[in-house]
Amino acid sequence: MTPDTNSPNQQNQNIESFLREDRVFPPVEAKELGIPKWHVGSLEEYRTMHARSLEDPDGFWSEIASELDWMRPWDRVLEWKAPDARWFVGARTNVCFNALDRQVRGGHGADTALVWEGEPMPNGKPEVRRYTYQELLDEVSRFANALRNLGAKKGDVVTIYMGMVPELAIALLACARIGAVHSVVFGGFSSQAIVDRVVDSSSRIIVTQDGGWRRGNVVPLKENVDSACATLSDTGRDVNKVIVLRRCNNSTSWHEGRDYYWRDIVDVSSSHCPAEPMEAEDPLFLLYTSGSTGKPKGVIHTTAGYMVWTYFTARTTFNLIPDANQMYWCTADIGWITGHSYILYGILPNRVPTLMYEGAPDAPSEDRFWDIVERHQVTHFYTAPTAIRSFMKWGNEHVHAHDLSSLQVLGTVGEPINPEAWSWYHRMIGRGRCPIVDTWWQTETGGHMITPLPGATPTKPGSCTLPMIGVHAAVVDATTLEDLPKGTGGLLVIKKPWPGMLRGVQGDRDRFVRTYFDNPHGYYVPGDGARFDEDGYVWIMGRVDDVINVSGHRIGTMEVESALVSHPAVVEAAVVAMPHEIKGTGISAFVTLEPEYVENLGMNAKSLGAALRQHVRGEIGSFAKPDAIRFAESLPKTRSGKIMRRLLRDIAAGNQDISQDTTTLEDYRVLAKLREAEEV
Ligand code: WT7
Repeated sequence: MTPDTNSPNQQNQNIESFLREDRVFPPVEAKELGIPKWHVGSLEEYRTMHARSLEDPDGFWSEIASELDWMRPWDRVLEWKAPDARWFVGARTNVCFNALDRQVRGGHGADTALVWEGEPMPNGKPEVRRYTYQELLDEVSRFANALRNLGAKKGDVVTIYMGMVPELAIALLACARIGAVHSVVFGGFSSQAIVDRVVDSSSRIIVTQDGGWRRGNVVPLKENVDSACATLSDTGRDVNKVIVLRRCNNSTSWHEGRDYYWRDIVDVSSSHCPAEPMEAEDPLFLLYTSGSTGKPKGVIHTTAGYMVWTYFTARTTFNLIPDANQMYWCTADIGWITGHSYILYGILPNRVPTLMYEGAPDAPSEDRFWDIVERHQVTHFYTAPTAIRSFMKWGNEHVHAHDLSSLQVLGTVGEPINPEAWSWYHRMIGRGRCPIVDTWWQTETGGHMITPLPGATPTKPGSCTLPMIGVHAAVVDATTLEDLPKGTGGLLVIKKPWPGMLRGVQGDRDRFVRTYFDNPHGYYVPGDGARFDEDGYVWIMGRVDDVINVSGHRIGTMEVESALVSHPAVVEAAVVAMPHEIKGTGISAFVTLEPEYVENLGMNAKSLGAALRQHVRGEIGSFAKPDAIRFAESLPKTRSGKIMRRLLRDIAAGNQDISQDTTTLEDYRVLAKLREAEEV
């Protein structure tokens, strides 16, 4: 593959530095970390399980699934006709039942299920709430009944736009309980993003809160919902019900007959609500994620396969063990797949308490996470490389101020972790002993696909190591789809179905097939480049499409470009990835302007840059704001009019010489000018 189709430039540079990374960290004894046992205790055991899972998927997954509760058993484990997988065909179950009722019925109703900590620290003390399985079951059942009373039925899509409060978890589980399909919109998204998702999913109910805490400020969640509803109403797509949780007590407007306070409807609802028996392939949720072209895709996950996959991967990757004093903390927001799978759905059925934190890592100070780890005796800590790079920058004193000896297993997810950050994490947070699981997966895969197992896999900083049990991963040539030899970079594919795979894209069958299965073998194509090393370890080389992974969040360059172009000053925009110290990858935008804006640009470049960032924030959300903007007279194009992004990537990265072929460039002078353009 040429580097151009393989991955953005700066990611190839990461590969260079990874190549020089040859340290190997063998797993440590479980008892050295105070853990009763490793579920998978050696590389040989992993290899045996992995081989069996691929040779006899029916037998393997039957055994795993039998550990959970079913209202009707399956007739067949798998029906596969690419790209359509049906897992546990004929079975009925309920994901919420397996998360909560199962534990209560097993005599563990009084055990801790969820620990929540709020961001504000009134009088220096955090607000902490604990829910046992019984308490959580009662709250979930009440809210489930409240949803039903407002007209929500099995199959209806309920949009959830909240901050990280316990009621967010309760709302998801309540939907699962009655068979409503949740569609969580991350609380950092704009009201326009709510509109797009509500329209695409034909949702009529929104669950939100007055405001959410973020670094001491109030995020106006209800206000954003109100403006989304106004836009929706203008186009005849009325939202019928808005449920509002009070959290910040900020004032909000009220729409009688449409808006309901959470407490008002929950307090009058019964806590008796039997879990709805769901067909194995009934949808559980939609979650929107960026693609390279067009609007975000609503990824569909269904009931039984997703449940089994998240249960199994959570247990295996994190070595979860009930009654072993574990306290599991994933720092992601439930608005992303990481939170769906590894705050809630994968953790609760494993009967290990899951911790949720409402706010920012530096509120009120930069040691907040370590303070939480120490106070709650966290044993499992799962975060993103971008967060780790921030901790490094903030300084070791914040770490030293706390006792982190409770930690047993560390995890990362979202983007490749650079060896420097890996080493710091290992040394400073893991005391040089805790295994690090670098988990590669996607919204579409439902759960971990390539990851070390903490008791089995020797780790190499920067590699997500070996395929998960049940995953048949390969690196192939992008055109021939033939397996490539070890050491050669190519397209990562998954050759066989797995229980947690997406089942479709909401309302767009064609896009589902085209994006992920556009090959005659029925391979799943995730859109990442990768290579195997001599030990069969996977090294992810980044996206091969026009998707930028910023701080572990996928952002389509197209989406940011459309947002920029919708500003009156902008004629044309091109967005590419650039290296960023903390985020790993940042967003760089090249923008051409309407003539009247060009005239006074000299004086106003900075303020126009700020206005454009603000605009993108309003269209998509804060995390999609360009880190660098350059105003240009024109963009480098081929003779056929295609923007030459690779040249822009070079400029964005500050590369002095253009290393790339420019023979197809229409006007060479454009480049020189672009290079002179100041970054604002
Ligand atoms: C993309 C998926 C899975 C939850 C978070 C992101 C990148 C994810 C890793 C990793 C290297 C990674 C890939 C993937 N990615 N984890 N451990 N090492 N890259 O979910 O928004 O669906 O993004 O994130 O490029 O395709 P997502």
